[in-house]
Amino acid sequence: MTVDYIASGGGPLQGEFRVPGDKSISHRAIIFGSLAEGTTEVSGFLDGLDCLATRDAFRAMGVSIEGPEAGRLRIHGVGLAGLQAPDRPLDLGNSGTSMRLLAGLLCAQHFGTTLVGDASLSRRPMRRVMDPLARMGAVIHGTDAGTPPLSIVGGQRLRGIHHVSAVASAQVKSALLLAGLYAEGETRVEEPAPSRDHTERMLESLGYPLQRGPLSVSLHGGGRLAAGPLQVPADLSSAAFFLVGASLAMGSELRLREVGINPTRTGVIDILRAMGADITIEQPRMFGAEPVADLRVRAAPLHGVVIPEALVPLAIDEFPALFVAAACAEGETLLTGAAELRVKESDRIQVMADGLNALGVFAEPRPDGLRIRGGVIQGGTVDSHGDHRIAMAFAMAALRARGPIRILNCGNVETSFPGFAALAAQAGMQLSMVPGNA
Ligand code: S3P
Repeated sequence: MTVDYIASGGGPLQGEFRVPGDKSISHRAIIFGSLAEGTTEVSGFLDGLDCLATRDAFRAMGVSIEGPEAGRLRIHGVGLAGLQAPDRPLDLGNSGTSMRLLAGLLCAQHFGTTLVGDASLSRRPMRRVMDPLARMGAVIHGTDAGTPPLSIVGGQRLRGIHHVSAVASAQVKSALLLAGLYAEGETRVEEPAPSRDHTERMLESLGYPLQRGPLSVSLHGGGRLAAGPLQVPADLSSAAFFLVGASLAMGSELRLREVGINPTRTGVIDILRAMGADITIEQPRMFGAEPVADLRVRAAPLHGVVIPEALVPLAIDEFPALFVAAACAEGETLLTGAAELRVKESDRIQVMADGLNALGVFAEPRPDGLRIRGGVIQGGTVDSHGDHRIAMAFAMAALRARGPIRILNCGNVETSFPGFAALAAQAGMQLSMVPGNA
């Protein structure tokens, strides 16, 4: 059975809370904690379905992992050579990060594996990792369309390559660096623009030497990872829904605690501020290698902007929320240079345009972006297509809508933001969950 949301406005949004842990960093905590020597204690871990899929994959490969309990996890690392063959295909659910990063890691093991996922993950492009990994010596078979399931042949000898990536993708970069840990010689990845650098920060904090340039990173295979404590910040990608919601609902003021403000992720703050949002960064500090702060947001009138293409990779997961902000802003907002949005958990350009149109907002899709004219939002029904971030974005749209919005197919919110509906209600929204028909 599926779940729909019925969002009937509400607000103002008020209070102080911590949204769940960062998804990207939580995945990496499991992966690198498992590959380290010694016991890694993780706090602030996201117990969403995506990260639990990664945890279960490592358990299936013989790693003992306790938790999560109240965000705490204890990983008994097996070292880089300690993974064991799983006795079944690894089911990675909805999680593109798990599939792409594990492809890089597992093509270097002495055993073979099969990686499978749900309907959405089974449509997502994998050649972007399969092709460069093949150049390193990996043997990975997908479908003719280059999609999962992936069948990975074990026992290959890998050699380092110099890869110039066509897209700024942390998943591609991380997959190659994971393979590079096992490869002969140097593995070097160059990107057209900076993508999130959590892999690099975590490798360095666990003692693995890296060479980093502004748009490149390289490492040599054959090193070791030493276990150490990992503190996961709250996820800015989850906080983004509340930054938008509080900006939109008159009289709102929220304080979001311990949010990750890694500069490779903060495009959403820059774009919202350019639109007129009132966001302040309080008490910046470090959680290990990752910067965090408390974010205060107050309601403010927003206006449309032309989004600089340089900010796109730094806000890549936040466009559903930003499109809702644009729909409520005065004037037009234009996004270009974001074709990647078409291959996320859904085609986020088309699905957001369809949903905004259904609510009476002018939104014109382009191959690489969207043009939105801010205006009045009507009530109505929109389909999230099982995409967690689309579901949460339209929930925020209800804060300005003239009638209730029914959002179809919201079960996957559990992949990244367990407890979203309850937290949103606690903050002042009127949001209920009802059984869906899909
Ligand atoms: C992620 C990288 C991004 C992002 C995804 C998480 C990661 O994907 O959209 O949600 O954890 O490395 P791309 O690398 O495909 O841009």
